[in-house]
Amino acid sequence: MSSLSSHPAASEVHLPKGPARSTLWDSLSMILNPMDFLDQMRSQYGELFLVPGFGRFPEVIMVNDPKAIQQIFTADENTFDSGVGLDLVLPLVGDNSLILLDGNRHKQQRKLLMPPFHGERMRNYGELICNIADQAIARQSIGKTFLARETMQEVSLETILRAVFGLKEGDRYQQILQLLTEMLDSFNSPFKSVFLFFKTLQKDLGPWSPWGNFLRKRELLDRLLYQEIQERRAQGNFSGEDILSLLLNAQDEEGQPMSDVELRDELMTLLFAGHETTATALAWALYWLHYRPDVREKLLQELQSIDIKTSDPTAITRLPYLNAVCSETLRIYPVLFFAFPRVPKQPMPLVDYQIPEGMMLTICIYLLHHNPEIYPDPKTFKPERFLDRQYSPYEYIPFGGGNRRCLGAAFALFEMKLVLATVMSHYSLELINPRPIFPARRGVTFAPAGDIALRVTQRK
Ligand code: HEM
Repeated sequence: MSSLSSHPAASEVHLPKGPARSTLWDSLSMILNPMDFLDQMRSQYGELFLVPGFGRFPEVIMVNDPKAIQQIFTADENTFDSGVGLDLVLPLVGDNSLILLDGNRHKQQRKLLMPPFHGERMRNYGELICNIADQAIARQSIGKTFLARETMQEVSLETILRAVFGLKEGDRYQQILQLLTEMLDSFNSPFKSVFLFFKTLQKDLGPWSPWGNFLRKRELLDRLLYQEIQERRAQGNFSGEDILSLLLNAQDEEGQPMSDVELRDELMTLLFAGHETTATALAWALYWLHYRPDVREKLLQELQSIDIKTSDPTAITRLPYLNAVCSETLRIYPVLFFAFPRVPKQPMPLVDYQIPEGMMLTICIYLLHHNPEIYPDPKTFKPERFLDRQYSPYEYIPFGGGNRRCLGAAFALFEMKLVLATVMSHYSLELINPRPIFPARRGVTFAPAGDIALRVTQRK
């Protein structure tokens, strides 16, 4: 291996350092408790390191250096494939999902799906989001315990189904709500998440086996989504602004509309990507706001400066301390610890290294967000850091970047801010058993380990 300062010829492979081999224990640590493993690797090998392959896990370069991240995010969109490295989510979203597409098909589909998550269209959901959040807490009796993640999941799921999908309350809506929650709960602990990583465990051994149970839930959910698609096709009127109308109207380069299976996969993708992530982020934010009374007080003071009930949602989303609380929540424990993989289609230089074609690059959001040179005292929750300094899009990346940047980033932040502003202004909550809580794997996301239990002490 050549030294860091040498400039290898284009054909020469020059990789960052890392442990000589991976063990089953390393692979399990990455799945079950990656924080310690990643912190230790970074302290030993620095900002880029090589994690050797093990079994079905390929060799990976872990990247958490802003310069390398900038190079990856600003590269021409044909430099990398991503979908090829994401077969892990295939059982959840189906193989026509945007997440699994690459090249031109990815680009076209992304353009098609973008509008409901941006601009005027998104701002129109403001009132609905505030009402959904208010009702979710209003359903809790004073003094009775409720779980932050569960309640925030109800809020984010209702938001996406009603605002983005345009579904009306009714039987099908309720069934989708319940099935999707149950289906994603199949992976609600580090141990259960292992099923996604090992194909050999993905065996249907009947309705009581974990995988069999997941498949049956997915089948029921599929049936409901296909019913919705067929009903909408039969109506023949796709003029609505909701996501299903957009997809039903879409045609490929040969003028062909999307098939039912393609439509189903894209709907599942948005349901899957769009609500669990936001629910987890909101649960963390509620935790921090009640674990740290100083932060809560500052936010309450800021919220008093406007009338939440009559304010334009944009005025709420511009509040600086509310923004700082959301940003710090997504920094300290990012919902996704890793961006999607980037697999170079040709050999390429990356900072001081020369990477071969086909090698998997994984940007580690968690390690970047815990770099003490960028974020002094990185393990402490400090919203003020976002008031004191602006971070570049290669230093702060809770939504990834480049041509795979989270499609719902603006929508997720909009929803987070409106939900927090509504809940904090209308209710006083209390954290039951305040204690340090750390993230644990939940499928492909990372959520609070253990329950964040709260109770309503007062309606304002
Ligand atoms: C706090 C909430 C959320 C977080 C932290 C988050 C984070 C991320 C991250 C890190 C990526 C990968 C980006 C990359 O590799 O560069 C991603 C992709 C994606 N996200 Fe989100 N997300 C959130 C909410 C949402 C919402 C609300 C939606 C929409 C309904 C959504 C839809 C997507 C989609 C479709 C992709 C794939 C984009 C592509 O492949 O081109 N996400 N998200």
